[in-house]
Amino acid sequence: MLEYIPAAKLALARDPGRPFDPPGELTRMRNERPLERSALVDGFPIWVVSDRARVRAILADPRFSIRYDVLHLPGGGTMPPAHPGDLTGLDAPEHTRYRRLLTGEFTVRRMRRLTTRIEAVTEECLAEMERIGPPADLVQTFARPIPALMICELLGVPYAERERFEADAILLTGGDPDIETINAAGAALYEYLSGLVAAKRANPADDLLSGLTKSDLTDDELTTIGLVLLGAGLDTTANMLSLGTFALLQHPAQLAALRADPSIAGSAVEELLRYLSVVPFMTRTALEDVEIDGQVIKAGESALLMISTANRDPGYFPDPDVLDLRRPAGGHNSFGHGIHQCLGQQLARVVMQAAFPALVTRFPGLRPAVPPEEVPLRHNAVIFGVERLPVEW
Ligand code: HEM
Repeated sequence: MLEYIPAAKLALARDPGRPFDPPGELTRMRNERPLERSALVDGFPIWVVSDRARVRAILADPRFSIRYDVLHLPGGGTMPPAHPGDLTGLDAPEHTRYRRLLTGEFTVRRMRRLTTRIEAVTEECLAEMERIGPPADLVQTFARPIPALMICELLGVPYAERERFEADAILLTGGDPDIETINAAGAALYEYLSGLVAAKRANPADDLLSGLTKSDLTDDELTTIGLVLLGAGLDTTANMLSLGTFALLQHPAQLAALRADPSIAGSAVEELLRYLSVVPFMTRTALEDVEIDGQVIKAGESALLMISTANRDPGYFPDPDVLDLRRPAGGHNSFGHGIHQCLGQQLARVVMQAAFPALVTRFPGLRPAVPPEEVPLRHNAVIFGVERLPVEW
């Protein structure tokens, strides 16, 4: 996918020595030509939208579709339509039905119980890290296991079962160039989740998946929803935790501020979301001709909405390139905007607000174990982050 949209690769590119900033080329584009006509590898037009106001306007505009089957593929044709249940590929009104059913399952009571569990598991992960001793890869010891627990709780599976989905789920969003590997991972996950749906129907418990079995959704739809939750929730949160820790380590005064006063965790997490943009771009396709600033995005042409530069828009955020954990929260676009705005955002917040303060207070001497330029970045995945983060303390 990334190969065929050169502009999408730009969203994941980084200038040397600036792992957290969108590349200068994209920033210049936002400042000079925030709506820019570009092209796919086959020459078909695609638009790059890079300032905050235009990105949000398109995300809120029903003339732009999220459907897979309206996306132009190289050489013509489109992808198949979204599988029933996959709300990330459906417009209203098909989207509305699934969205409502799912929203109803993210109850306050469940979120509260999850918070307690997250706190306990974070402590377990940190204790294990301490036991093994430095150096440790923070991705393996911290950033991955904590979101995996969150997903286990949602799906209602024992934490020990995370190995049955974790590796495959990471492959789905990890950007492995080999499409067969991705398809095999998807098929294995589908099989695991359809078994789980059957088990929940037979033996419902107090989890989201069991809750949904009481609706009129089919087994196939329920399985797909499980797959969507894994695909949307696991790798995003894991990369926020690892890239966020990397950013804190590179900004020691900010890290010290969070350690000194963990009650700023709320604004700190919003600022890290803004600063890092782990989902650096989203795609929408025009269903009819849409005129913006005197230019026409024609029906069938897509727009790449650059979240990373929108989140650094100086017209909205003062000193946008400064990481300031006490910055008044709000206004970032890291969970999207409009009807597809992230369904799991409260959950992700709960996890991050528990995990970051716990990490920095437990390890006051936490520091990188390698120079920053040796931390491998993820340039090939649709979610930005780090592959590994060696730390010592
Ligand atoms: C920090 C972590 C996360 C980030 C940065 C993130 C980001 C996003 C973004 C940008 C979108 C909108 C995509 C678009 O409009 O094209 C989205 C949608 C979604 N997210 Fe998240 N997400 C995170 C965590 C989660 C979690 C924990 C879950 C659930 C377990 C989740 C479930 C979803 C779902 C189901 C959608 C689709 C909603 C819809 O189409 O109506 N996300 N997320």
